[in-house]
Amino acid sequence: MNRPKRMLLENIAWAHETAHADAQFFTRLAQGQSPKVLWIGCADSRVPAETVTNANPGDLFVHRNIANLFSPSDDNTMSVLEYAVRVLKVDHVIVCGHYGCGGVRASLLPQSSDLPHVNRRIAPLCALGERHRHELDAFDELDARANRLAELNVLEQVRLLRQHAIVCERDEPPLVHGWIFGLHDGLINVLASGYADEDETRATERAPITSLRAA
Ligand code: CO
Repeated sequence: MNRPKRMLLENIAWAHETAHADAQFFTRLAQGQSPKVLWIGCADSRVPAETVTNANPGDLFVHRNIANLFSPSDDNTMSVLEYAVRVLKVDHVIVCGHYGCGGVRASLLPQSSDLPHVNRRIAPLCALGERHRHELDAFDELDARANRLAELNVLEQVRLLRQHAIVCERDEPPLVHGWIFGLHDGLINVLASGYADEDETRATERAPITSLRAA
């Protein structure tokens, strides 16, 4: 059986099982959405937002792209943010990166000439890596450098989001969180909680977490 056919059969099974477990589930789903969270994550197939947080349809408004970048010049990113903040009025924006990110790793390597779109997308990552070159050079292994850059990237996207007019315009702006997912254990590390007092604590605690990850 080919993959799409298998997926369609799985869809029928899921729809039946879901309706069986909760008879009103699809009635509620059809009435509209009111997710409290905007998730900005990597397009990587191994980090599906709903699966790794045990969330349901309707819980998360999701935007995924290579290396979970917030790009103010990109209409796709900006339309998602605009709709999430102004219409859905989400309470939280979560940027979730992941260790072992191919997009982040690629930004530390010579660019591949057959991936012009990817190269353009990850250009801000290359610049971020340059800004942190001294810290990154302390790691011998490329993978360790990429993992630290993945963390720095999450924090950079959080910083950009927190100062963006769309995020700041509401009387009670959504809290912007920075998370990173570990492929090896399925657990999420919080790099920026969205709560100012907790972030101060985390800023001083972050170094040991990173050196463990990089080991
Ligand atoms: Co990735």
